[in-house]
Amino acid sequence: MIEFYRIKHDLRLLSRVKSSAKLIREGRLAYGWAKSHMQILDNTINRYQKAKPLKGVTLGFCLHITKETSVLLMGAKELGATVACCGGNPLTTQDDVAAFLASQGIHVYSWNNQTTKEYDWCIDQVLKHKPAILTDDGADMNIKAHFDKRFKDLKILGATEETTAGVTRIRAVERQSKLRYPVILVNEAYTKQMFDNRYGTGQSTIDGYLRAMNLLMASKRVVVAGYGWVGHGVASRCSGMGSKVIVTEVDPVKALEAHMDGFEVMTMAKAAKIGDMFITCTGMTGVIRKEHILQMKEGAIMGNVGHFDVEIDSQFLLHSSKSVRQVRPNLDECTLSNRKKVYLIGQGRLANLVAAEGHPPEVMAQSFSNQILSILYILKNHKKMENKVIGVPKEIDQQIAVDALKAMGVKIDKLTLKQTSYAKNW
Ligand SMILES: NC(=O)c1ccc[n+]([C@@H]2O[C@H](COP(=O)([O-])OP(=O)(O)OC[C@H]3O[C@@H](n4cnc5c(N)ncnc54)[C@H](O)[C@@H]3O)[C@@H](O)[C@H]2O)c1
Repeated sequence: MIEFYRIKHDLRLLSRVKSSAKLIREGRLAYGWAKSHMQILDNTINRYQKAKPLKGVTLGFCLHITKETSVLLMGAKELGATVACCGGNPLTTQDDVAAFLASQGIHVYSWNNQTTKEYDWCIDQVLKHKPAILTDDGADMNIKAHFDKRFKDLKILGATEETTAGVTRIRAVERQSKLRYPVILVNEAYTKQMFDNRYGTGQSTIDGYLRAMNLLMASKRVVVAGYGWVGHGVASRCSGMGSKVIVTEVDPVKALEAHMDGFEVMTMAKAAKIGDMFITCTGMTGVIRKEHILQMKEGAIMGNVGHFDVEIDSQFLLHSSKSVRQVRPNLDECTLSNRKKVYLIGQGRLANLVAAEGHPPEVMAQSFSNQILSILYILKNHKKMENKVIGVPKEIDQQIAVDALKAMGVKIDKLTLKQTSYAKNW
């Protein structure tokens, strides 16, 4: 019997275990498809394949269990690691991928559609493997490793953080001088943020919205809340689909940039009245609130692609509406007290992962190369690292850009000697 989900004592899950052979087959196909489009990551793994630098090391991962993540986890195993993982969100695990990974000897504690309690339990199980290095997406595992007394004696050499929301939380821990070990902010690498947050989320958000609603995007007024990396990607892709994009912001510089990029910029109070679709990309809480929702047009569709489900008041939509019914997979129709019907994608959780499959493999190959190289960096350098957050070392970022260009068959110029000396001359 495979270790699928490792909670065979839970009767509710036995039926899932029975169907695991089919899931494993599907998961293997998904893994193969992703791997064949993640050459950058493959090259990184191959470079260290012989040396097996992770032999004897246990790694704990808290990441969305997608086909792209399976390439990272299998890669870590190929480099010699013992791998334990759980999902980065209760709704985003792809069960076929989880089943495949479990069949390959990876300790998988995750399944799709978990309760918050189950999600929490899964993180505990990963930490019980006593990982030496943690890789997190949103900081749920790192926060537990810091503040849950049961894990206070764990010897953790360091950690890596994948997303903006996790960076915000881990910086807050650092500000209180409570960081127990160094954390590399993979999210801050140029080869992560500029591509994953922008192009990855840009494309997969459109994918998620289309799968959830299958409506025309051309001519619709799409309100994009937040014009950071994610907002840039989402706004530009919506614009490419023919939507009329409206941006809301709180940062004057970003708002000015959106204005110069040709988007309408206004407050959410105003946008709420005219938007057909809403996409929150801020990482902030309470961006679309009750007072905005009650102003919306009949048929307005809301979704969130920020890390946590705090951007839209989904509590109000799902629990204070006159009625709520699911009209399509991942799409709830909420009839408000004013009788208007509005719609919420994926209960306000990451729409691009809940309603679609997350980022495309080419993009994740860059993010996950950053992850693997940062893990190896911690292993090699942890003794001289302080308990602080640091960016991805520049040489890693540069190496990934070189690898990515090579994988994509792009050649660039080199500075001539004359140009180098010109640059140095004052
Ligand atoms: N869905 C995904 O796959 C995915 C991928 C990467 C990042 N993320 C998440 O997306 C969120 C945004 O990430 P980012 O890298 O773009 O961050 P960012 O910091 O670059 O951008 C966030 C923007 O939101 C703006 N903002 C904050 N509060 C606002 C408010 N009340 N109204 C309007 N704008 C507001 C900020 O001024 C900022 O410009 C984070 O939660 C991050 O973890 C999700």
